[in-house]
Amino acid sequence: MKINEIIDEKTLVAAARAVRENSYAPYSGYRVGAAVLGGSGRMYTGVNVENASYGLTVCAERVAIWKAVSEGERRILAVAVATADGGTPCGACRQVMAEFGAPDMPVLVCDAESTERRFTLEELLPEAFTGENLPKTTVGEG
Ligand code: THU
Repeated sequence: MKINEIIDEKTLVAAARAVRENSYAPYSGYRVGAAVLGGSGRMYTGVNVENASYGLTVCAERVAIWKAVSEGERRILAVAVATADGGTPCGACRQVMAEFGAPDMPVLVCDAESTERRFTLEELLPEAFTGENLPKTTVGEG
C-alpha cells in the first residue's frame, strides 16, 4: 500500500511539526514531534516527554508508535519526525520502527520550517535485528 493512497506525506509532516508544540522538554530544550501512519490508515502523533530522572525520557517517535499499537495497529506505513534542526531518529527509535515497519517504509525527517529529507527505514537501520531472527516457536500472534 502506498502512503499517498491513504494520507499524503504533507499531512504527516504537518502533523509532526504541529504536535511538536506539545513537546515536554524542559531539560534538554530539544523539542521533537512525530507522526506515524498506521496500517489502518489512521495517523498517530507523539512528542518527546522528558523527566527529572533523565533516563525515563521517551522520544517522540516511540510515543507515537506506542499510541498506534495501543489503539490496535500492528503495522506502521510511514513516519514523519520534526525537530528544530532536522535531526534524524535515535537508534532506539529506529529499532522500534523496525518492529512494526517494513524495510522500505518512508521516514520523513524535517526541521521546523521546510527542509525534508526522505529515508527508508533500511537506510537508517541496515541489517536490522527483527522477530524474523528469532526461533518461530517464540514469536506469538502479538
Ligand atoms: N529525542 C526524540 O524525541 N527523538 C529522537 O529520535 C532523538 C531524541 C528527544 C529525547 C530528549 O527528550 C531530547 O530529544 C534530547 O535528546
